[in-house]
Amino acid sequence: MARHLITSALPYINGIKHLGNMVGSMLPADVYSRYLRQRGHEVLYICATDEHGTPAELAAKERGIPVDTFCAQAHDAQKAVYDGFELAFDYFGRSSSEQNREITQHFARRLNENGFIEERAIRQVYSPTDGRFLPDRYVEGTCPHCGYDKARGDQCENCTRVLDPTDLINPRSAISGSTDLEVRETKHLFLLQSKLQHEVEAWVSLHEEEWPQLASSIARKWLTEGLHDRAITRDLDWGVPVPADTWPELAAEGKVFYVWFDAPIEYIGATKEWADAAPAGEVRDWKSWWYEADGTVRYTEFMAKDNVPFHTVMFPATELGVREPWKKVDYVKAFNWLTYYGGKFSTSQKRGVFTDHALDILPADYWRYFLIANAPESDDSSFTWEHFTTTVNKDLADTLGNFVNRVLSFSKKRFGEEVPAGAESGEAEAKLGAEIAGLLAEYETQMEALQFRKAAAALRALWSAGNSYLEEKAPWLEIKTDPDGAALTLRTAMNLIHLYSVVSEPFIPASAKAMRSAFALADDTAAWVSADEAKSLDAVPAGTAFTVPPVLFAKITDEDLESYKERFGGAPE
Ligand code: 2FM
Ligand code: ZN
Repeated sequence: MARHLITSALPYINGIKHLGNMVGSMLPADVYSRYLRQRGHEVLYICATDEHGTPAELAAKERGIPVDTFCAQAHDAQKAVYDGFELAFDYFGRSSSEQNREITQHFARRLNENGFIEERAIRQVYSPTDGRFLPDRYVEGTCPHCGYDKARGDQCENCTRVLDPTDLINPRSAISGSTDLEVRETKHLFLLQSKLQHEVEAWVSLHEEEWPQLASSIARKWLTEGLHDRAITRDLDWGVPVPADTWPELAAEGKVFYVWFDAPIEYIGATKEWADAAPAGEVRDWKSWWYEADGTVRYTEFMAKDNVPFHTVMFPATELGVREPWKKVDYVKAFNWLTYYGGKFSTSQKRGVFTDHALDILPADYWRYFLIANAPESDDSSFTWEHFTTTVNKDLADTLGNFVNRVLSFSKKRFGEEVPAGAESGEAEAKLGAEIAGLLAEYETQMEALQFRKAAAALRALWSAGNSYLEEKAPWLEIKTDPDGAALTLRTAMNLIHLYSVVSEPFIPASAKAMRSAFALADDTAAWVSADEAKSLDAVPAGTAFTVPPVLFAKITDEDLESYKERFGGAPE
């Protein structure tokens, strides 16, 4: 049994995330973690809110509350949604934690001692009205190329050209609107990534063959373009302060680290938060997951494709430059985009589904299953209400839910509230056992390979196999001529329900639990069933008491479908 460290990209503190964010990081990480735990591995699944940076400062300002208060509230709001989605993090931390501050500052000091940090003077836009330097994107003005009057200092949204704030015509502060701007010289810390290029290249070449193509091709592209030195500090009030013991002057000026410098370090920081939050009597050794952990820990990261450069190149460069044995990622699971009817999810145009609203209308399992079964793995994939409705109705309601309900209700009606004894297994059961064993092995293979769509297809095939068996044996006819045979069929089907509850757990944990608790078993855990064991199902022996659970999945009606489209916006005009 291995030790698996799992992280999903840290969601920015601002705003509740949409379904695309969910399927590209946290949800697949949770499915994978649950699966590995069931297989008996030691798993640590860590995530956190990514709290620093200008957007948090501005959002707090807009609400008229201190930024730390804003972040605390926004963290709790996000956490509540993730609880609703049943994301079983071992810890969901905060990048503004004391632990992250300590480790980030330690990393910076070490990088400096090793000659990978340099102080450089740069020229930056300063707004006397706002009393601060403005990050590029907070300088607005007219684009010199297309004349668009709301172009940002880093890029023009209209013609997509990359800009420098000094290119803008009639520049103004995006914070106050002030046009009284000047360019001032200021000192910042630069991470000399160029010096680490060869080391990162050597490290990537050790791993890229194993990574999915999406991750390795992006890593290669960045390496080919060359690693550039980059500023890792900012003039902001909110962030990890530059340590005064090493850079007294910059610390006195109130410089903080750039959010992308401290965010990945928070994977480590949050692991320490987890350890520090241990209940009395429990010892949690955070360092054993991160320090000198090569060979003992397998580390898998989940993220959408825009995050790949930071995780495959920049964070490893930081870790390498620290010259301490910090664990680096083994496997990078990257995702493409989930689109909404082929277009972007858009908050401003009220298009798309946000995770809190999703839970308002339907339970988490509906979303979890649909999203993973259609995860944007090899390409972008599109969310449509029509597709969602068909999938829920067909796979969850008809194939799985109906099977469970039909079998248990019919058996209760004919044989009472205990699993019936009846005949011994025969040819049909042997055939079913072999089929189930094959599909289960396929499911395991795809899960181990982190091929989520294929794993979902194998799971669906497992559910279908039960339906085919039931149709073939037709216990509702069998009962008339061969009650013992009908009892065998129902007992076998009930064992399938139990098996489904175990193997469906990573996808639909709440429904899986409801299925399992239909049976009065001493062991109601979701301990894994091997493909070999699945050949002769006997977890639920004759005589086991059971109850018929309420309908597992309600069908989405045409009226529901119309109302969702109306509320969330359907296909773009
Ligand atoms: O792109 C994002 O949503 C970032 N907040 C991801 C950070 S991942 C990690 F490096 F912290
Ligand atoms: Zn333009």
